[in-house]
Amino acid sequence: MEKETLYNEFVKVAEKAANLQAAMSLLAWDQETYMKPGSIHRRAKQLSDLASFHHQILQLELFPILESLMDYEFDHPIKQRNIEQAYKIVAKEVLLPENFVKEWAETVSEAQCAWQIAKANSHYPTFEPLLRKVIQLARQKAGYFGYEESPYDALLDEYEPGITRKQVQHFFETIKKPLLTILDHIQNHEFFIDDQFLFYHYPKEKQLLFSNHILTNLGFDFDRGRLDISVHPFTMGLAPEDVRITTRVDEKDITMSIYSTIHECGHALYEQGLNPKMYGLPISEPCSLSIHESQSRFWENNIGRSFTFWQFYFPILRSYFPEVLGEVTLEQMFKAVNKVKPGLIRISADEVTYHFHIMLRFELECALIDGELTTDELPSAWNEKIRSYLGLDVPNDTQGVLQDIHWSHGAFGYFPTYSLGSFYAAQFYHYMEKSIGSIDRYVKEGNFQPLRQWLQEHIFRYGRLYSSEELCKKATGETLNVSYFLKYIISKLNAVYEMNFQPEFQVD
Ligand code: CO
Repeated sequence: MEKETLYNEFVKVAEKAANLQAAMSLLAWDQETYMKPGSIHRRAKQLSDLASFHHQILQLELFPILESLMDYEFDHPIKQRNIEQAYKIVAKEVLLPENFVKEWAETVSEAQCAWQIAKANSHYPTFEPLLRKVIQLARQKAGYFGYEESPYDALLDEYEPGITRKQVQHFFETIKKPLLTILDHIQNHEFFIDDQFLFYHYPKEKQLLFSNHILTNLGFDFDRGRLDISVHPFTMGLAPEDVRITTRVDEKDITMSIYSTIHECGHALYEQGLNPKMYGLPISEPCSLSIHESQSRFWENNIGRSFTFWQFYFPILRSYFPEVLGEVTLEQMFKAVNKVKPGLIRISADEVTYHFHIMLRFELECALIDGELTTDELPSAWNEKIRSYLGLDVPNDTQGVLQDIHWSHGAFGYFPTYSLGSFYAAQFYHYMEKSIGSIDRYVKEGNFQPLRQWLQEHIFRYGRLYSSEELCKKATGETLNVSYFLKYIISKLNAVYEMNFQPEFQVD
């Protein structure tokens, strides 16, 4: 076949595979938002049949085309990258036998349901047998993919292509001591920040109205996406033209819906900003989970927890809740949403202690995958680590080992991408500012367009054509450098706590 014809064939089949993938994602979205628990077994079967159908398309149609295309050179750089990247992704997928793909899909769907019940009842034994099975399958999967040092590397590679466990360890080693020093400093100085008002009564409907208000301003396109409620907030990009986000609302904690919404909006802007004309090709897919997370964290933390953000939004928020916030000042709001306080729950953690939540999950999942830790020992190992990192006692498993959905999805190797996302976000912020000038100047006017435009130009438009590392280098001129994050966090906390903390460690 002539090479252009072959390329067109590739585009057609890739689109078909992506359409099927989108249908599966929609079923998964429904499972987490509207589906009733009684439907779970049928849904698990539906997902597993579709997964095996999808796998057949990759194996029997897409992979042979890509193998042939790899024999050619294309002058067009985007075509060439699309082929190379798609080949890499698909070649890995087809290493998995079809019956394994089916078993995986069915098991994780069931496991997710068991996790939900276990979490609601704080009853780990409900989840344990399924978790054991998921871990066994994850190790099997790593075996199919192959690895040099640790099976965990093979799993990590699914979320963050190219990175190794050793590299992740290195990043954590670099930030651990500085973050502990900051945490100690804040705790030893008994600074007082009053954040009581965040936990008064905030009616759900008004919170949702405010969430919608923010989404519209930040640039979420409601014609190509929607906002719903779920236990665990998430974004599902079915296509750039159909991006679903969810938030969660706690009437006793206004920050929950605000920051879940902004976080997911960051993910959604990325998904909506991908190239819709080449749907199914790497250029139309997100780069990696850490880059995805850099987008959510950029908006949630670097922007959403900045003083200027609240300069613009606080009067608006107060107009929604005048009875609760009438007496509260802008400065109080800024400080309250940035208060550093060790807690049990990852998703409500501040920007310092958050990374200890990730480190402990990373250490535990490595031990689980290596077989050094059994699922029976997991809850006590969890509690032990919370005590040593954050000095807290875990009263029950709902607030401990059962709090996150990830392991029930079989997502081992996912957690580190959250921390990496924060590090990337700080680096992007730094270089964005170099390019467009003071970001605060735009944010305090509620003008987010120049920020989105920079992201579109440097991140969105490349999709998955490059690795995280290559993309970061293109956008910022250097590979990931955690000192941007450390500098950001120190300067933020100096403002919040009105202190002048000068770290002894080197941040350059
Ligand atoms: Co996220």
